[in-house]
Amino acid sequence: METTMTFEYAPAPESRAIVTIKPKYGHFIGGKFVPGGKHFPTINPATEEVLSQIALGGKADVDAAVKAARKAYANTWSKMSGKERGKYLYRIARIMQERAREFAVLETLDNGKPIRESRDTDIPLAAAHFFYHAGWADKLEYAGLGTSPKPLGVAGQIIPWNFPLLMLAWKVAPALAAGNTVVLKPAESTPLTALLFAEVCQQAELPAGVVNIVTGDGSTGALIVNHPGIDKIAFTGSTEVGKIIARAVAPTNKSVTLELGGKAANIVFDDAPIDETVEGIVNGIFFNQGHVCCAGSRLLLQENVAEEVLHKLKNRMEKIRVGDPMDKNTDVGAINSKEQLAKIIELAAVGDSEGAERWSPACTLPNKGFWFAPTIFTGVTQAHRIAREEIFGPVLSVLTFRTPAEAIEKANNTPFGLSAGIWSEKGSRTLWASQQLRAGVIWANTFNKFDPTSPFGGYKESGWGREGGRHGLSGYLKGVSHE
Ligand code: NAI
Ligand code: MG
Repeated sequence: METTMTFEYAPAPESRAIVTIKPKYGHFIGGKFVPGGKHFPTINPATEEVLSQIALGGKADVDAAVKAARKAYANTWSKMSGKERGKYLYRIARIMQERAREFAVLETLDNGKPIRESRDTDIPLAAAHFFYHAGWADKLEYAGLGTSPKPLGVAGQIIPWNFPLLMLAWKVAPALAAGNTVVLKPAESTPLTALLFAEVCQQAELPAGVVNIVTGDGSTGALIVNHPGIDKIAFTGSTEVGKIIARAVAPTNKSVTLELGGKAANIVFDDAPIDETVEGIVNGIFFNQGHVCCAGSRLLLQENVAEEVLHKLKNRMEKIRVGDPMDKNTDVGAINSKEQLAKIIELAAVGDSEGAERWSPACTLPNKGFWFAPTIFTGVTQAHRIAREEIFGPVLSVLTFRTPAEAIEKANNTPFGLSAGIWSEKGSRTLWASQQLRAGVIWANTFNKFDPTSPFGGYKESGWGREGGRHGLSGYLKGVSHE
């Protein structure tokens, strides 16, 4: 028998007093903040409050940043010993830890994600990436690329809004450890933690020009991608923009890594431990409002346990707390932007019109800001758009299967191949399934676990190259591979 208890939670708001947000920001170029020309607002998506005015980087700004990065590369950073570079990375990592609360509050205000997640996941993992890569800086000859691998030069890095500081860390830490300098552009809706990171670079006395941050939108990103003074492009974002970038760099000498979309299958076999599995399903799709490229957005249930799993999943979803991201009890926060909300609403409506059955728990959403209740669609088939396209929101599509072979067939029937999940108590089945699945990251009896030592990346339209671990480092080095 199940007992259902619902607790009322008193509000537990985190204070925003720890952060100082300037009314207006410029770019960070050559170690200094320089004024921008045009500006645009960044808002708190949970309240629609304007937080600050952000500079829209144009050609002159990108030129200046590339020039500063080139100078720092040639005169300072590429000449410094790995051990010295490592010291700076350790220093940055420690300052990020010291200022973790400031980063977490700022991330939540600008992005809309729950403070519990920015505090416990985004910021600690971002610091961990700097610590991990600091350790590599003086050991690059063990990266599997020959005895003296060399940096590429100036890296142009373009990141999305779903994990703003963490994606910055994934890009900047390996680039710097390997001896490259960078020009980074944060996403237009979430630039504030990147600008705080610029202050951390100053605090760490990182040589001027090693890290340059130019804010702006897609037009600024395109200027970076097409700049002739850049040696490598690293991008995380939509498959659509990833394809534009791949085309733009194809006729050039630039190297490129792309981390794009996904539509991960989360497969539940009939011997899975159901209660743990339900927790993993919830974490897989509702973590970070489902704004996760590796989200477990396609749930594949073995038919004979489907009813039980769905019953328990709905019970569990009744207890998800949606609301104020600054409240420490909140599980699901605000959708990052009006545009993203419109996209989620549109794709969910397609789910209705294609005949899938929509279900959400009763929940009261705030009046202001951008919100979408945790949602599942049952009766989804392979042909449905909600089974094929990335929704990038708190929406789960549920399909069923009869045999393990059918599960694999359905799981792999996608243009993506970023991640997958397997739930089973049988080790041999888990290993068998993980060998059949065409996905870069496969979790067994867990989901959405990240670690800087573990390479992350996709097959097919999910991208090129890996980030993290020794494999990720190779994206910032040239050398002779012995593998
Ligand atoms: P996007 O791909 O447009 O934005 C990501 C970054 O690329 C931002 O910094 C943006 O300014 C920049 N950008 C945009 N156009 C560019 C161009 N032509 N050249 C260079 N840089 C450019 O993603 P968007 O529009 O915010 O989200 C749309 C969809 O993309 C989402 O619904 C989701 O499905 C997917 N997405 C996937 C992400 C992932 O982590 N794989 C992250 C963000 C979005
Ligand atoms: Mg914002």
